[in-house]
Amino acid sequence: MSDLALLNCNIPGINENCTVEVENGKIKSIKKIGPKCDKIIDLKGKILLPGLIDAHVHMRDPGLTYKEDWKTGSRAAASGGFTTVLDMPNTDPKTTTAERFKEKIQIAGSKSVVDFGLHAGVEKLDEIPKIAKLHPSSFKIFADIVDNGFLMDAFNEVSKLKYNPSTQGQKAEKYPFKPLISLHCEDKDIVRHCTDKLKFGGVSDSKVYSRARPALAEEVSVSNIVTMAEHSNIHVHICHVSTSKSLEIIRRAELAGCMVTCEATPHHLLLDSSSFEEFGTLAKTNPPLRDGKYRIKISDLDSIDIVGTDHAPHELLEKGRDVWNAPPGIPGLETALSLLLTQINRKELSFKRLIKLLSENPARIFNIPKKGSIKEGMDADFVVVDMKREGVVDPKTFQSKAEYSPFEGFQVKGMPVMTLVRGNVVMDEGEVFEKKGKFIHS
Ligand code: DOR
Ligand code: ZN
Ligand code: ZN
Repeated sequence: MSDLALLNCNIPGINENCTVEVENGKIKSIKKIGPKCDKIIDLKGKILLPGLIDAHVHMRDPGLTYKEDWKTGSRAAASGGFTTVLDMPNTDPKTTTAERFKEKIQIAGSKSVVDFGLHAGVEKLDEIPKIAKLHPSSFKIFADIVDNGFLMDAFNEVSKLKYNPSTQGQKAEKYPFKPLISLHCEDKDIVRHCTDKLKFGGVSDSKVYSRARPALAEEVSVSNIVTMAEHSNIHVHICHVSTSKSLEIIRRAELAGCMVTCEATPHHLLLDSSSFEEFGTLAKTNPPLRDGKYRIKISDLDSIDIVGTDHAPHELLEKGRDVWNAPPGIPGLETALSLLLTQINRKELSFKRLIKLLSENPARIFNIPKKGSIKEGMDADFVVVDMKREGVVDPKTFQSKAEYSPFEGFQVKGMPVMTLVRGNVVMDEGEVFEKKGKFIHS
């Protein structure tokens, strides 16, 4: 007898009416007929998707918990249909040493209600091999705040790591970590130059923000990074691509043999710089929202590997400062799925592509073999969606501490109604149940 059976599931691409049997947190079978079982949930024909993996979140814990913490951030994840999140290292302290990496595993492990992985930051190069033994999701570098010399050295150090998937970090020179660098791509000098010109020229309207960090800054940085990646034969993952030209540079590099993957956020895909008019600094994010003529669109998703939310929560009070002093960042965990399901209802996107972008590809790129698809033997991570349910984005209902969104007032059709992590219900009809999330590693 198994632990749980999900009846009358509609799984896109697999089966229109089937039963998924769960045992010990794993998918035991996908069948036509219902098995004998302790607990049954009847989905009544609703869509069952693999649990979503958000490869780009900022949970702010430790140190910045007035903005978000692992409890509230992971509740936001569960609420939005995400069963695994990969956290960024720019907390306080930053996750740049093996010690801090281990501390963050403890903190997240005691509070998170969904499963999690951690990106490691890079400061001291001699920490790279030490952190590599601890199964980081990637080494993350913010190219908007470091020099080319530092980038060169970091690429060189990561390229020295020798990957062996069968080694659990025991042998001295072989690591379970597959060398991967994630990057925030904006050229530091161009950003500084353009920002100073506007800032010291007395401009303070938030509409100028896209000019303070122009498309060119991103495109120069992306070109630079793919060149470094080719040179050191390293897989690079480009975070939050915002312009179509960046995408073109990435695809050209890929055709030339560069190991490069890329990500887009819902806000860069669906909004443009006109959001500054209505939302001011609440729409401020790095890289900025772009003018219509440069920006990426939903139709570009065929050449994008993953959607990451870049859930970057801040306190409303600090977001209320002027354009130069308000921190950049938009919370995204609780809006991403319903925004994309709305695109599916409008026939702008398919379930097949959505599953690739938010489950299969993040699992493949970040080396999470037991997650990302509905198959026997995989973790029983799911999100159930109701494609007929309609609503309006209302930040006051967020589980996140960051109750703002430039999507406020957006009409959506298609919403997550239940989230399960390893067979445990963590969200049902908006109510979150606090189960223990686990640190995931290959
Ligand atoms: O908008 C952003 N917010 N971009 C970043 O790169 C950092 C992030 C944050 O941590 O707030
Ligand atoms: Zn970034
Ligand atoms: Zn980020």
